[in-house]
Amino acid sequence: MVAESQLLLWVIYPYVAMTIFVVGLIWRYDRDPWGWTSKSSQILERRMLMWGSMMFHWAFMFIIIGHIMGILIPVSFYNSLGVSFSSYHIISFYGGSIAGVIAVLGLVILLARRLMDKRVKATSGVDDYFTLIFLLIIMVSGMLNTLGYTLLVGPYDYRLTIGVYVRSLILFRPDVAVITSAPFTYQLHTLLGLLFFAVLPFTRLVHIFSFPLPYMWRKNIVYRSTSKKG
Ligand code: HEM
Repeated sequence: MVAESQLLLWVIYPYVAMTIFVVGLIWRYDRDPWGWTSKSSQILERRMLMWGSMMFHWAFMFIIIGHIMGILIPVSFYNSLGVSFSSYHIISFYGGSIAGVIAVLGLVILLARRLMDKRVKATSGVDDYFTLIFLLIIMVSGMLNTLGYTLLVGPYDYRLTIGVYVRSLILFRPDVAVITSAPFTYQLHTLLGLLFFAVLPFTRLVHIFSFPLPYMWRKNIVYRSTSKKG
């Protein structure tokens, strides 16, 4: 028998968050197509943006790959390849820690830039600060597990709890027992991770879905000067 509070946290909340994510994205695209942008401020300040943005975005891509590897791919797949938990853990610990530290540092640079550069500060709104601080909180909560839990408590195979739980949500058969058996810091990060999806449609993070993939296969554009000299 699942307690009401657990039902609320681990069944109702995730599905509400994902519904807001899907409906919110459609609503935003329909209502605010011209606001669907990362709101670049590169024209105002370049140097800190280059470092902060590059560090954050590259590290974030590795973090996404790590999440897919540990959460969406079942342990049985690794077992079939003969990859033991200790081998997996070494990759996830070092890979995750390095990517996490770089992403957090990138976010700190981006936040410092908004606060220190007069022109960027003058054009920054609540949305800009909220997005950066929110990302920082989620990432630090992730690091509490990858670095914090591992160093203070020991290696933990989150694939057997968090992974199983997330996949059970996707299959609409939420496994509350498995997630409630996970350590608190892992549960906290999962709840914040779900909040990320509910909040995303209302922030500049929507630009994630405008990644310019067609650039990779579109034909080159040839620019020619119209002046006789050129
Ligand atoms: C429901 C969604 C999510 C789940 C279930 C989840 C799960 C996890 C787990 C289990 C870890 C620990 C990995 C380990 O101990 O080695 C982790 C780490 C981390 N997570 Fe998430 N996460 C979610 C969403 C997010 C989001 C949205 C972000 C960023 C915006 C994020 C950023 C991080 C970071 C920076 C780390 C530490 C570095 C790493 O190990 O990759 N997570 N996450």
